[in-house]
Amino acid sequence: MNVLTRLDKLYFRLQAQHECLAWAFGAIDGKPGLVLELGLGHGRTYDHMRRHLPGREIFVFDREVDCIADCRPPPERLIVGEIGKTLAAQADRLARRIILAHADLGTYDRKRDDETASMLATRLPPLLVPGAIVISDLPLDFDDAEPLPLPDGAQEGRYFLYRRRECT
Ligand SMILES: C[S@@+](CC[C@H](N)C(=O)[O-])C[C@H]1O[C@@H](n2cnc3c(N)ncnc32)[C@H](O)[C@@H]1O
Repeated sequence: MNVLTRLDKLYFRLQAQHECLAWAFGAIDGKPGLVLELGLGHGRTYDHMRRHLPGREIFVFDREVDCIADCRPPPERLIVGEIGKTLAAQADRLARRIILAHADLGTYDRKRDDETASMLATRLPPLLVPGAIVISDLPLDFDDAEPLPLPDGAQEGRYFLYRRRECT
């Protein structure tokens, strides 16, 4: 049977997410910079990132706080509101300081996802240091970032990986 079920798609998405995060932890090792988690959700990927990136400041964005109790970020690094607005409000503070951004904002609504991807393509690049890594569940149309192949163990198209160009 060639048709993927919803369970297949979720499985491949989480597998790709896990592999991309693992790859990115190595890619930013030893490089200074802050980390963004866009979409706290239940806090699973935030928990994963904070455990694998000890000592990194991770700024977490969501419109609501609905995470597992022990995955709640500290209040000084938890920014609640519509990400289009909160990222804009934090633009000066975070400008050119982000070495890794993970965005997990997709829905099952194509139009909303297109709007989210467009917002991220506008708001994220000014925050990234040259060479920064962006991992996203939605494809992003970045001017100043190159798409990267997914690491081994992740199927192309299930997650998306970008590196901000060094000299722009
Ligand atoms: C799929 S969940 C994230 C799951 C999370 N990575 C985890 O592992 O538990 C997506 C989250 O993004 C948030 N979100 C989506 N679009 C948003 C937006 N435009 N502004 C703020 N939050 C948004 C939703 O509220 C939701 O909590």
